[in-house]
Amino acid sequence: NRPEYIEILGQKYATDEITNVSPAILAKVPRRLHAQPSHPLSTLRTLIESHWPDFAHLSNLSPVVTPQKNFDDLSFPLDHPGRSLTDSYYINKGMMLRTHTSAHEVETFRKGETKWLLTADVYRRDEIDGSHYPVFHQMEGARIWSDDATGMREVEEENERLAQHLTRSDIIIEDVPHISPSNPVQSRHNPKHAELVAQNLKLSLNSLMLHLFKGTKDEPLRVRWIETYFPFTSPSYEVEVFFRGQWLEILGTGVVQQATLDASGISNKIGWAFGLGLERIAMILFSIPDIRLFWSQDARFLSQFQSGVLNTFKPYSKYPACPRDVSFWLTPGFAVHENDFCDVVRDVAGDLVEDVKRIDHFVHPKTQRESLCYRINYRSMDRSLSNEETNVINDQVKERLKSQFSVEIR
Ligand code: PHE
Repeated sequence: NRPEYIEILGQKYATDEITNVSPAILAKVPRRLHAQPSHPLSTLRTLIESHWPDFAHLSNLSPVVTPQKNFDDLSFPLDHPGRSLTDSYYINKGMMLRTHTSAHEVETFRKGETKWLLTADVYRRDEIDGSHYPVFHQMEGARIWSDDATGMREVEEENERLAQHLTRSDIIIEDVPHISPSNPVQSRHNPKHAELVAQNLKLSLNSLMLHLFKGTKDEPLRVRWIETYFPFTSPSYEVEVFFRGQWLEILGTGVVQQATLDASGISNKIGWAFGLGLERIAMILFSIPDIRLFWSQDARFLSQFQSGVLNTFKPYSKYPACPRDVSFWLTPGFAVHENDFCDVVRDVAGDLVEDVKRIDHFVHPKTQRESLCYRINYRSMDRSLSNEETNVINDQVKERLKSQFSVEIR
């Protein structure tokens, strides 16, 4: 019962047996929240862009990319879990929805951009709760120099400038070494050059954190650098910021793998890239309590925001939750991945679903049949759901489960 074609932003794509994009997801593609002038995600984008006024600011790329761009160009191994049908949305074997803005690194470098920011909607199959949504927004930033004495002199001069700006008592930085045995320099890099680039990356991003989160003499901003791993950078780091009593992961970054630059036709360059998630930062800066609110078309949400203004969101009343449990027996040989379950729920209930939790998994001792139970919490952001309406939606979920996964509802 899959359609022969699906249409995305006016382009038709043939489907095949691996197609797993759902109508609920496709409906989000034209929304382009990061480009809606008074939307908080757009204000956050412009706030970051204003920190780097001389970078190219790109935000117009289609989310439909090849797995080559999303994974292979970035040195993802063939068995990387991100490639699987349970983690990513495929249109067909040759096309997918980008899972991260890094998918555009090669084409952007290839165009000749040397310092750029790129904002876009990205798509990942995931669980359902107040901070996860299968569509979210990222900003990629990158900067490259000639990997020679001239390029490195430029980096050094800029590092000095940035370091002066950061000798302030309103930021406390927990650092890690630029390079270490567990976070190595690439074999093709001169370690001195990689160190300078890594230092520039840290100074640039520390300065961005200060721009976004402020920090005062009384309450300095705390930023923490952690070693990590990405297939497309080395050394690689994660940046966390201390906010309201906890460390929040803000971005991933590192020195760009030379293989990526080779694919871009610029092997003689060296540089850094980072990718940050806009929702998580916007939820903090605007005090937005639920990730679904970004998609709200309700005037009580949208009218609270003005282009370029960072303000505190005033939640309108929280409507009651309507929890429903769905239990079913699995048919042997038909596994139901949690992300498959969640996509069915989203397809039927849209943004009326707040979270989904598996509350039971049971194997019958005699028959060995497996049973699962999920608790679906329905709640509208905008109104009270009636019991009758909730039952109708929940019955539709059960029907879809039966027809799509041959389960037996208990
Ligand atoms: N693309 C990575 C992610 O989505 C983030 C990243 C971008 C890391 C650029 C390093 C360099 O998690």
